[in-house]
Amino acid sequence: MTAFPDRRLRRLRQTPALRRLVAETELSPSRLVLPVFVKEGIDAPLPIASMPGVSQHPLSGLAAVVEEAVAAGIGGIMLFGVPSARDATGTGAVDPEGILNRAIRVVADAAAGRITLQADLCLDEFTDHGHCGVLAADGAVDNDATLEIYAQMALAQAEAGADILGLSGMMDGQVAACRAALDAAGRTDVVILAYSAKYASAFYGPFRDAVESTLTGDRRTYQLDAANGREGVQEALIDIDEGADIVMVKPAGPYLDVLARVADVSSVPVWAYQVSGEYAMIEHAAAAGVIDRERAIGESLIGIRRAGAEAILTYWAIEVAGWLRAGRSLA
Ligand code: PBG
Repeated sequence: MTAFPDRRLRRLRQTPALRRLVAETELSPSRLVLPVFVKEGIDAPLPIASMPGVSQHPLSGLAAVVEEAVAAGIGGIMLFGVPSARDATGTGAVDPEGILNRAIRVVADAAAGRITLQADLCLDEFTDHGHCGVLAADGAVDNDATLEIYAQMALAQAEAGADILGLSGMMDGQVAACRAALDAAGRTDVVILAYSAKYASAFYGPFRDAVESTLTGDRRTYQLDAANGREGVQEALIDIDEGADIVMVKPAGPYLDVLARVADVSSVPVWAYQVSGEYAMIEHAAAAGVIDRERAIGESLIGIRRAGAEAILTYWAIEVAGWLRAGRSLA
């Protein structure tokens, strides 16, 4: 019996060239999507304190963002609107002159088909109470009344020129409601990205700054409970059944198991959203000198890809696309 191991997996780890040759997981710029915040009533970018390196953009700055994204070769831009006025039913979301719908038109013009234009389809930025839906008399979020507004929002965003609608409100039946409305209007071409397994998460904290959220309380009656993996898979399967073209898991890092399970069973593409808190944690830890920023970013993304995401929404999309174009490996 030999005193030495006869299986030596270290053999393939000896040099950077060997490691690159046997890397199982790769990322490319086309698999990255950049979330972009558009704020009404400003005329210069406004940095978001909780997200170092990320700003709210004025409408007039969007064309430049599009050029940057196209040059970076990323797969798309996901637009979020920050309106200056909000009301109980979120009328700014369905108004063609609402900030998000105006931004969609500006980006659609600038993009001219060179990059996909995605839009957040949810009411939370437009309601004065900050919930993702409208409220019933007793203060609870009214699922079915909200679906009617989502359907109108889908038509408004499609009309403005969005290619992909990101349904992030977590109302039951939202995919079916939006698909039916789009199809009835002859917009069978518009793609539905369902934020299927969207968990009630502390990691959305910095985003709520970014969109100046007015929410008091929480979203636990509609977003998923962190304890539940099977339920996340079921949400994705139901959304696929309702007609989702793409399903998503969100946040990404703390839910890689859910992502892997959804990827195992999904018949449609599976994406993940590396959310604001995941971004902020690495940025702030790096700024404090306790972590290697670029390696941590790369490892966080390759982990999400390895778990099964075919595309990733990340605030680092442009920067990381640059690294990838320069031929750098991420981990
Ligand atoms: C809801 C929405 C949220 C995010 C994207 N869409 C916030 C929420 O549900 O509270 C979070 C994204 C992030 O944290 O980066 N419209």
